[in-house]
Amino acid sequence: MGLITLSDHLHDIAENSVNAGAKNVTIVVEETSETFFFSVEDDAGGIRPDIFEKIFDPFVTTRKKEIRRVGLGLPFLKQAAETTGGYVRVETEFGKGTKTEVLFYKSNIDCQPVGNLPQTFLVLLLNGGIEWHIKRCYNSSCYEIDTQTLSKYVGQLDSPGKISLVSDMLEELENSLIEEEKI
Ligand SMILES: Nc1ncnc2c1ncn2[C@@H]1O[C@H](COP(=O)(O)OP(=O)(O)OP(=O)(O)O)[C@@H](O)[C@H]1O
Ligand SMILES: [Mg+2]
Repeated sequence: MGLITLSDHLHDIAENSVNAGAKNVTIVVEETSETFFFSVEDDAGGIRPDIFEKIFDPFVTTRKKEIRRVGLGLPFLKQAAETTGGYVRVETEFGKGTKTEVLFYKSNIDCQPVGNLPQTFLVLLLNGGIEWHIKRCYNSSCYEIDTQTLSKYVGQLDSPGKISLVSDMLEELENSLIEEEKI
């Protein structure tokens, strides 16, 4: 298995929203030279109180047995973030939704690499039936992308051509963000 990256953690948390049946998911990623913060907010109905008490315990899951994974997303994330001096905070309102906020200190020697954020965004955007709102900042420069705007320009992401177009666009947005910071 490859090294887990901060982007993989973001993907895991956003996947929790998808699995819980979210219709709207808002992702914010704010990075500086020292820190990596992300939040994921959904309208998937919140976490059951009996589960919420135990979400950081390994192997707590409401997912069906035949599904690949086992309930390690949140415990792994908490351990990884706290090792760097950061945190994971989960707020949930049962019947409404959940917001998860995560901070990593990149300056800590044990911090995992950031990984491929544009690719993570792309994979998430390919989940049909969900309105994604993504904001990505590096220091004071940001870009935003959302399902509605995207569908206005390219329609449904239903062909390899369109997917690679969006992939290129995300790469370019990401590159120009990092470039701007170098100036
Ligand atoms: N955004 C969310 N909305 C509703 N329930 C959630 C949400 N995030 C987590 N949960 C609940 O918390 C449980 C534990 O989440 P966790 O990510 O640790 O494990 P998992 O998603 O079940 O499995 P894995 O992450 O290993 O694939 C989930 O099974 C689900 O019941
Ligand atoms: Mg999970």
